Amino acid sequence: MNKNKKDVKIETKRGSVNQDEWPEPVVRVQSLAERNLSSLPDRYIKPASQRPNTTEDAPVATNIPIIDLEGLFSGEESSSDDVIMARISEACREWGFFQVVNHGVRPELMDAARENWREFFHLPVNAKETYSNSPRTYEGYGSRLGVEKGASLDWSDYYFLHLLPPHLKDFNKWPSFPPTIREVIDEYGRELVKLSGRIMRVLSTNLGLKEDKFQDAFGGENIGACLRVNYYPKCPRPELALGLSSHSDPGGMTILLPDDQVFGLQVRKDDTWITVKPHPHAFIVNIGDQIQILSNSTYKSVEHRVIVNSEKERVSLAFFYNPKSDIPIQPLQELVPTHNPPLYPPMTFDQYRLFIRTQGPRGKSHVESHISPR
Ligand code: OGA
Ligand code: NI
Repeated sequence: MNKNKKDVKIETKRGSVNQDEWPEPVVRVQSLAERNLSSLPDRYIKPASQRPNTTEDAPVATNIPIIDLEGLFSGEESSSDDVIMARISEACREWGFFQVVNHGVRPELMDAARENWREFFHLPVNAKETYSNSPRTYEGYGSRLGVEKGASLDWSDYYFLHLLPPHLKDFNKWPSFPPTIREVIDEYGRELVKLSGRIMRVLSTNLGLKEDKFQDAFGGENIGACLRVNYYPKCPRPELALGLSSHSDPGGMTILLPDDQVFGLQVRKDDTWITVKPHPHAFIVNIGDQIQILSNSTYKSVEHRVIVNSEKERVSLAFFYNPKSDIPIQPLQELVPTHNPPLYPPMTFDQYRLFIRTQGPRGKSHVESHISPR
């Protein structure tokens, strides 16, 4: 696609933003980690209220629900389907998060995807700079989310790429090292698109809607899918920093492949942060803001964040399943109680994602500020 090099400004509530450049020089967290610093640069120190609670660890015995999908996708109806559907329904309402096993994606493919990305992130920083991203599309190698000058930063680097729609999928914007990476991401992406379609049907059915209702509202065949791979290097002062600040995912639904060896993801449950204990070869599924909006807040996108540690780096793959980016998303009529206005006004996903792309991760403030005025 033809990249217009001229300054293109977008208007946000906080003034105009130059989309072609970051507001200040980009510092790779990997290069900070390689310096073996004994203290943390100020930009990465979170205010006390946001710091992870290291003294009184979240109860380890609590874990988000683990749901076995075996049977559900076999094509044959069975009475156990109802039990699985009910567990998903409860997980969506109680947690907004759940893990799935027997999901149909080969474990070898999951490991290959994570390990190819780990190898990529182990390349020296300068070998990755050719993929360096800008706030215009975020595609490529990045180290911040949001464009506000002087903003507090998170202890992670990442890579962002598009899988769908087909015209946005561009191998030239994907890494070419290790040599197997493109082929592995491609297959991984196709498998996750399939799995997402199945989970979307479960979510619709569980609300008493026709099984294709959510998918149709997302634009049918024309949905978007992208991948954000997070690299969290070892951190010298993990008690002062976050790998990724609290946020809810702006898109439709997220399927996360966490690091199998290293904890990090925390999910907000009421007022505590629960550390998720990854189950071997499970995926972690969560509801994003677009499904909260479509469901008129029956399903909620839940706040989550990532903590880091000083002993081990962590790699995770977040796959985002999103609506077609230029169609208005608004609550489904069936889910808006009669005589009440819908909770949210229509907005395209292209427009919606500018919140997080300009302001960075800010808890649930984006979806909360999107609510219709009354
Ligand atoms: C994300 C995210 C969690 C993780 O990329 O949106 O929440 O464990 N990642 O890396
Ligand atoms: Ni997230």
